[in-house]
Amino acid sequence: MNTEEMKKLVAKEALKYIEDDMIVGLGTGSTTAYFIKMLGKMIMNEELFDVYGLPTSYQARILALESGVPVVSLDEVDAIDIAVDGADEVDPHLNLIKGRGAALTMEKIIEYRAGTFLVLVDESKLVEYLGQKMPVPIEVIPAAWRVIKEELEVFNATADLRMGVKKDGPVVTDNGNFILDAKFERIEDPLDLEIELNNIPGVVENGIFADIADIVLVGTKEGVKKLE
Ligand code: 5RP
Repeated sequence: MNTEEMKKLVAKEALKYIEDDMIVGLGTGSTTAYFIKMLGKMIMNEELFDVYGLPTSYQARILALESGVPVVSLDEVDAIDIAVDGADEVDPHLNLIKGRGAALTMEKIIEYRAGTFLVLVDESKLVEYLGQKMPVPIEVIPAAWRVIKEELEVFNATADLRMGVKKDGPVVTDNGNFILDAKFERIEDPLDLEIELNNIPGVVENGIFADIADIVLVGTKEGVKKLE
């Protein structure tokens, strides 16, 4: 089984958590994209009723609309039943690094408030400690990117401004901000670092999601493994 097949497998498994009348937070990225498309099919086939998607990005919003998932915005809902999203790293305590898709701020706003936060990954995302493979994406106010990059040296981190595919300009988030990708040596206390990074003036949000995930579905060669 290859990585794409593992992603499809967990996306299919995630559908079992969706019931009629739910508000479902829709994550961003390639794994959640499979979930959104499958969810749309179930809604179109009338296997689910009165399910609304709450997208975490323009990318998720457009895909949901194309796939037949009706969408709502955060200010229209009283409660979020479940949120489904991918991750870039998952540690043994289910702390996450997210934000390769630059949608981390809206993802955290929605996933923090969801009744259940369900994470979908393939087994390559499991790590012993956060920061093992991936940098921490940090969304920053554009005017402050360079001073924040320097201030991150206090944390022994080296940060790079994330550039677009053509490398001719920075990636701009849905909120009009920039992303710094900060490589830390080893993140011993994810919750502490998450709070400390958000205390830097000019930081909008960072990609450490400590103690938020309820369930992680892991696609492995042997099938889906559930961590909780
Ligand atoms: C986007 C994210 C994604 O969920 C994360 O990058 C995983 O993406 P993929 O499923 O494509 O591996 O945090 O901001």
